[in-house]
Amino acid sequence: MTAPVVLGIETSCDETGVGIVRGGELLADALASSVEEQARFGGVVPEVASRAHLEAMVPTVTRALDEAGLRLADVDAIAVTAGPGLAGALLVGVAAAKAYALSAGKPIYGVNHLAAHVAVDRLANGDLPEECVALLVSGGHSSLLLVRGLVDNLTPLGATVDDAAGEAFDKVARVLGLPFPGGPHIDRAARDGDAGAIDFPRGVVRDAPYSFTFSGLKTAVARWIEAKQRAGEQVPVADVAASFQEAVADVLTARAVAACKAHDVGTLVIGGGVAANSRLRAMAADRCEAAGIALRTPPPKLCTDNGAMVAALGALLVERGVEPSQLDFPADSAMALI
Ligand code: KG4
Ligand code: ZN
Repeated sequence: MTAPVVLGIETSCDETGVGIVRGGELLADALASSVEEQARFGGVVPEVASRAHLEAMVPTVTRALDEAGLRLADVDAIAVTAGPGLAGALLVGVAAAKAYALSAGKPIYGVNHLAAHVAVDRLANGDLPEECVALLVSGGHSSLLLVRGLVDNLTPLGATVDDAAGEAFDKVARVLGLPFPGGPHIDRAARDGDAGAIDFPRGVVRDAPYSFTFSGLKTAVARWIEAKQRAGEQVPVADVAASFQEAVADVLTARAVAACKAHDVGTLVIGGGVAANSRLRAMAADRCEAAGIALRTPPPKLCTDNGAMVAALGALLVERGVEPSQLDFPADSAMALI
């Protein structure tokens, strides 16, 4: 069988992503983001995101097809994020995907956003092993998953009980006076800072060794900054950024490696927007090497939300002979794993 050409649509948050793959090969990755519109609110406003998806959808699909040098008729299947995510935002992508599928007479696959964050790695690093642990860290989710089969066997091992990791980056950036989204700015500021300057807390969740909590850390950073300001001292932005980033990278990588060891899994995949973080990547590389675990991290552009990840998972479903979704499948903002 020749590798299937799949067009993937992603609208679960604030990025309108349309990607096209041929099997594990990336042909196009078009993206429109409402992040600049969201920046003045300091976070993602669901209604703003939904409206932006509606405006960006058709131009982004057209751009992806142009980039790949294809017409819709050349595509073998359409895949779309059906959940989890913002309900209104998902509805736009799912409705558009159904319209494209129906008009072009193509099969459609409603897929899970988290599974797509794992599957995207095949585009960068070749076919994934059937068994791996995935650490997915973004503005909307922070999860550790046990993958025993990418299309039909993903088990949640743990997740954040409060803020997502990216949300913590965004909130700490705000108290440091850095722009939204804060992750890349903290990453940059931290380069000139001392990661050992301040010993911020590493939150643990009782009886849940693979879960995360970031609200205590976020509050500790805010209190530390307030104390400095009250004392009339200058806030050492680079040191705070580096020390905060160190605390986040420490808990994420320690728990991910522990999960691999506990389940006797030899591969760790890291995805989601926070996977672009340079300290997280370096610490994960060191700790995985020390533990004899193969680390797979897609390039930053494929870590943040995009359409190629949805197409990558869609192609895997087609390759495995999985039946397409019925045309009445819903958008499910709280979609569970399979
Ligand atoms: O996956 P993503 O694009 O969207 C979702 O939230 O699903 O992730 C966006 C998040 C934001 O919170 C952003 O601050 C964070 O990823 N982020 C980073 C970096 N680049 C993006 N966090 C830390 N370091 C980075 N370099
Ligand atoms: Zn995501």
